[in-house]
Amino acid sequence: MKIAVIGAGYVGLVSGACLAEFGFDVFCVDQNETRVADLNAGRIPIHEAGLDTLVHSNWRAGRLHFTTDLPSAVAQAEAVFIAVSTPTRRGDDAADLAYVQQAASEIAQALTGYSVIVTKSTVPVGTARRLKAQIRELRPDAEFDVAANPEFLREGSAVEDFLHPDRIIVGSESKRAQETLRKIYQPITMTGAPLIFTDFESAELIKYAANGYLAMRLAFINQLADLCEKVGGDIAVVAKGIGHDKRIGHHYLHPGPGFGGSCFPKDTRALAATAREAKAPLSLIEAVVSANDKRKGALFARVATALGGSVTGKRIAILGLAFKAETDDLRDAPGLDLIPPLTAAKASVVAYDPVVRNNSNNAFAGVGWAKTAYDAAKDADAVIVLTEWNEFRGLDLIRLARSMREPVMIDLRNLYSIADIAKTPFIYHSLGRQTLRPLMTGAV
Ligand SMILES: NC(=O)c1ccc[n+]([C@@H]2O[C@H](COP(=O)([O-])OP(=O)(O)OC[C@H]3O[C@@H](n4cnc5c(N)ncnc54)[C@H](O)[C@@H]3O)[C@@H](O)[C@H]2O)c1
Repeated sequence: MKIAVIGAGYVGLVSGACLAEFGFDVFCVDQNETRVADLNAGRIPIHEAGLDTLVHSNWRAGRLHFTTDLPSAVAQAEAVFIAVSTPTRRGDDAADLAYVQQAASEIAQALTGYSVIVTKSTVPVGTARRLKAQIRELRPDAEFDVAANPEFLREGSAVEDFLHPDRIIVGSESKRAQETLRKIYQPITMTGAPLIFTDFESAELIKYAANGYLAMRLAFINQLADLCEKVGGDIAVVAKGIGHDKRIGHHYLHPGPGFGGSCFPKDTRALAATAREAKAPLSLIEAVVSANDKRKGALFARVATALGGSVTGKRIAILGLAFKAETDDLRDAPGLDLIPPLTAAKASVVAYDPVVRNNSNNAFAGVGWAKTAYDAAKDADAVIVLTEWNEFRGLDLIRLARSMREPVMIDLRNLYSIADIAKTPFIYHSLGRQTLRPLMTGAV
């Protein structure tokens, strides 16, 4: 079976490579010529565990192709997956569907035989139905169906998540579309993942509801961490205590600097916008959006307070820039909220991230780049842990502290145990726990 995937980003490239691994003939299309040239030269444009091996082996086997030529990729494809971006629309919080609509009209012009056009991008409720009408209007003669098949993979474990999903959701109105997608996903469903067929609207809502709920847990634990800082208690212990309740569970109960990435921030905004427009407001999701914005907006003040009120003239080491570990994605990363005010306040900022290594993002103008965490911390007045990279867990904290001008650590991921920190000279600020000072512990 020939499959086309439109958009070769995090979702499109991972989906395309995994589908090729199942033996399908996959054409990944991207309008970004540099990206396609890189892929055809064997360069993988994103950092994702296991992706390079999968792409290289399937490309070499001749089952995975990269092109900017959408019509030739779509011709005779039995399924066309739309995996283009759906960012927040300028001027309001709704999802911007311009890329999806553009892709749909290009696909419509290119249809030859029967094809299922599948929305894998995260799209607001009503989109599949509207795309169906859009394509029908452009091509009254074409034989096609539309299906809504939201993707739930997480960056950092995207390949694993695609191959072993908790469930596959397919919204459709046609048996033929269902059968095509059943065949495509058979290698996955064979190993036990449920394939759930729904109507268009339910499929689209499931994706937003899942992300809205997970974001709500994060906003909840972040606010609870703030409360611990005021009234005492250790957020890790509190989270463990509530997580053991089987009705709650442990996942997504770890405090942080505010959620970022390419999904939660834009999807919570878009869900709230959809609900407002439908006059069925989701006030819980509105509160999540506002709490997270406030949290990220307060990062600078948190750092300034830890440094005695001012960061001017201070040298600050940032450990981690990616919005979370195991990815190079900077979209809505907390560092974008923290670093510009630091540099504007004339702090000297030096950053280190294991995979984000260039300074192409405007928000990082004026930032120095270190090759290791130790280089970043040298002579610093404070080190800020922004991303929970595993390699930071094993740092020699005594060596790190001794190389600094002032051994202050602001750990926005609670990477370290109080017991470990107590053996170091660090003045340690973390989330939802009391500040630890070496004099309290006698560490030198
Ligand atoms: N990144 C994630 O973790 C994740 C997880 C689940 C769902 N999603 C959803 O999947 C969608 C894609 O997200 P992403 O992170 O892969 O985005 P991305 O920005 O990494 O990739 C999108 C790609 O589409 C290309 N593109 C845009 N319009 C095109 C067109 N008309 N023709 C050809 N190529 C085109 C862009 O050049 C880009 O390379 C979004 O709706 C997102 O919400 C993302």
